[in-house]
Order: sequence, then structure tokens, then C-alpha cells
Amino acid sequence: MRKPLIAGNWKMFKTQAETRDTLRRLDELIGRLLEVEVLICPPFTSLPAARRAAAGTVIQIGAQNLHWEEKGAFTGEVSAAMLIDCGCSHVLVGHSERRQLFGEDDAGINRKLKKALSSQLVPILCVGESLQEREAERVEEVIEGQLQQGLKGLTAQEISRIIVAYEPVWAIGTGKTATPEIAQQVHAMIRGWFEGKYSSVAADGLRILYGGSVKPGNVSGLMAQPDIDGALVGGASLEAESFAALVSYQR
Ligand code: 13P
Repeated sequence: MRKPLIAGNWKMFKTQAETRDTLRRLDELIGRLLEVEVLICPPFTSLPAARRAAAGTVIQIGAQNLHWEEKGAFTGEVSAAMLIDCGCSHVLVGHSERRQLFGEDDAGINRKLKKALSSQLVPILCVGESLQEREAERVEEVIEGQLQQGLKGLTAQEISRIIVAYEPVWAIGTGKTATPEIAQQVHAMIRGWFEGKYSSVAADGLRILYGGSVKPGNVSGLMAQPDIDGALVGGASLEAESFAALVSYQR
């Protein structure tokens, strides 16, 4: 049985004080919720504040990116050890905004995944097609390429520790959510790919999150799909009330 995970990606929003206030309010609203895992990924500068505010709550803290080297002359970069030092248990890898706006490629994403895994962080590998790729009926080819390249050289043991997030680029921040049926179709394809490439045990255990305009009003329909194991939420994770409504989708 895969435990659902609802994750908030705060992107480049919230100062330390805003982080503390939002997480305190979120804790008041969700309390001891046990049936769903809850994760918030604030910007790097707010990680220490997030760690303090989340201590003793069910909220886990993750980062939005990492560098693949241990340390060195890499101006502006942050290492896995630094993230762990700030209380991170998870890290997003290969978010579409990193791919599109900051030139991240599959080879770099592969190195980041390996670094996260060897550092005991749980990586959330983000994949997804653009509108142009969907219209050209290239969804399967694009996602399989991202998985193939991104996961290159990982052991079966490492594969069992990763999470995949399917985020169609055309649904991010646009208010256009994939219908539950469209999302389910791609999730099933991703799970099938894992079964073919690794094993049915790996495929059954894999958690696949959906991301792209997830809101309190559409989360239950998405979560009712057999291959959707959680959500990666941008905009609707910024307010404690809406994120609390998202994580309480079963209630
Ligand atoms: P929105 O929920 O704002 O569409 O963002 C999705 C996303 O990119 C989460 O990583």
C-alpha cells in the first residue's frame, strides 16, 4: 500500500517570517494527520525557519534543488550535506522550471539524483511534456526519455527510494489541470515503464505524484485514480488554508 504524499513547492515565495507563520498555521489546521504524508519545499533561505516551525509536527521539509558535488568552487550552488544540515528529508530534482528556465538537462539531473540518494535524501524526480509535445503526440516518448536518462545507472535499491512527479508543463501555473483521466493515463504509463525496466515490485512500490494546478476543488478526483499517489502543488500550497484543505482531501 502506497501512502499518499501531498507536497508543496513554494518556488521563489516567502521570507523566513512568512515561512514560520504559514507553517504554524498549517500545523494548527492539520494537527496529527496520519493517513497522508505532508511535505513543504520552501526556498533555501527559509529552510532553517521551516525546520524550526515544523519541529514536532507532521510536516516534513524538502528543498527545491541541489548540486551534485559534495563541495567546491560552485558559486550560487547548494550541496546535499547543506540541505540535510537544514533539516531536509526530500529534494525536488529536474523541476520543469529548472529544465526550461535554467537549462538543466537529463545528464545533470541524473547526477543530482545520484547525489541525493547517496546522501540519504529522498529525491522527487519531476517529468512532464510541453503543450507542443502533447499536441505532437510525443508524450510517451518525452516522459520515457526523461526517465531513461534521469535514472541511468541507478541500482534497484536506489530506485525503490525515489518518488516521481508527473507535471505536464502546460498545466503548471495556468489553471489548466490535466483531467484525472489524462493524468491517470500518463501515471499508468510511468508505472508500466518501471515494471518493464525494473520489476513489478519496483513499479508497485513507486509513488507517482501529479502536479499542475492542483487545488482543493480538484484534488479528490485526481487522488481517486489508481496510479495517482499524491500531488506536487505550487500556487495552492502558499496559503495554509488551501494547503490544509488539500491534505485533508479524504476527510
Ligand atoms: P501550480 O500548482 O502552481 O500549477 O504549480 C505546480 C508545480 O510546478 C509544482 O511543482
